[in-house]
Amino acid sequence: MAERTVVVVGGTGLAGRAVVEEALRRGHRVRAVSRHVPPAARQVLGAEYVAADAVAGDAPARLGAAFAGADVVVDTVNGETPAAAKVLTAGAASIALAARDAGVGLAVVLSIVNVDRGGAVGYYRTKVAQERVYQAGAVPTTLLRAAQFHDFFDRFFGRPTLGGALSRLGTVPYLRGARLQPIDVTDVARAVVDACAAPDAPLDGPVRDEGEPGRRTVTVAGPEELDGRDLARRWAAAHGSRRVPLGLPVPGYGAFFASGDATAPDARYGRVTYDEWLARTARA
Ligand SMILES: NC(=O)c1ccc[n+]([C@@H]2O[C@H](COP(=O)([O-])OP(=O)(O)OC[C@H]3O[C@@H](n4cnc5c(N)ncnc54)[C@H](OP(=O)(O)O)[C@@H]3O)[C@@H](O)[C@H]2O)c1
Repeated sequence: MAERTVVVVGGTGLAGRAVVEEALRRGHRVRAVSRHVPPAARQVLGAEYVAADAVAGDAPARLGAAFAGADVVVDTVNGETPAAAKVLTAGAASIALAARDAGVGLAVVLSIVNVDRGGAVGYYRTKVAQERVYQAGAVPTTLLRAAQFHDFFDRFFGRPTLGGALSRLGTVPYLRGARLQPIDVTDVARAVVDACAAPDAPLDGPVRDEGEPGRRTVTVAGPEELDGRDLARRWAAAHGSRRVPLGLPVPGYGAFFASGDATAPDARYGRVTYDEWLARTARA
C-alpha cells in the first residue's frame, strides 16, 4: 500500500495503540487522537499525538485540525458506561462530520462480530448506533467487526471487577455455555490497516466481506473456537492459579455468547492463539 496519512481516534487505547504501531510498521504517517496525550515514555515512536475530546463543544474545530491532510480516519474510541457511551454516538457524529469537511476518503470503524444480533445488550445497541452514524454519513466507510480480544476475558477471570468476589472464593468465573473465537489485538490491527488501503482493499487472510465499497462490513475472528470453560482453564493454568472454573449465567451477554454469535467460523483471520497470548502476558 502506498504511504497514507492515517488518523486513529482512540489511538491511545488498547486496539488504537496496536493500530498506530501496525500502521507505522507499514510506513504510513500516523496521528493518534484522544482526550489525553500520553507522556513521551508511553507514546509510540514516530506517531504524532493530538488532544481532542470528540464530545466536547470544541470537537468540530479540534477534530478538524487533527484530520487535516488525512487519507483515512480510523475510529477505535470506546465508552462502556452509559455516561461515556456518548463518544460512540454523538462522538461518532462529530468525527464523521469533521472527516467529511476535511475531505477524508475513508473511515474505518472498529466494531464487534455480529453486533447487530446482540440487541439484548445495551452496549451492543450503542455500537450498532455508532455503525449507523457512519453508514449514513458522507465518508465512504468500512465497518471492521472483530471478535472479542484475548484481553477481554481478563476482566472476568483475573480482575477485581465482575468476578472479584468469586475470585477470592477460589473460582475463575466464566460465561456458562459461551462459544468464542477470540482474536489478538495485533491481528485486529493488521485487519484495520489492511482495510485502510482503500474502500475495496483485500484483507490478508480469511474474512467475511459484506456490502459494497464505501458501505462495507468486514468481519474478522481468531484462529480457533473455544468454549468459556476451556478459556477459563487455560487462563488458570497459564497464571499458575489453583482457582476452579465456575460457569455462571450472565443476563443479556449470556444468550449472545451461547448462541455462537460471538464466533465467525468463516473469518479465521487471526493467527495468534489464546495460548500464545497467555504465554506472552500471563503473570504465572
Ligand atoms: N474489547 C473487545 O473484546 C472488543 C472486541 C471487538 C471490538 N471492540 C471495539 O474496539 C473499540 C476499542 O476498544 P478498546 O478496548 O481498545 O478501547 P479502550 O482501550 O478503552 O480505548 C478507548 C480510546 O478512546 C479514547 N476516548 C475515549 N473517550 C474519548 C473522547 N470523548 N474523545 C476522544 N477519545 C476518546 C481513549 O483515550 P482518552 O481516554 O485519553 O480519551 C482511548 O484512546 C471499541 O469500540 C470496542 O467496541 C472491542
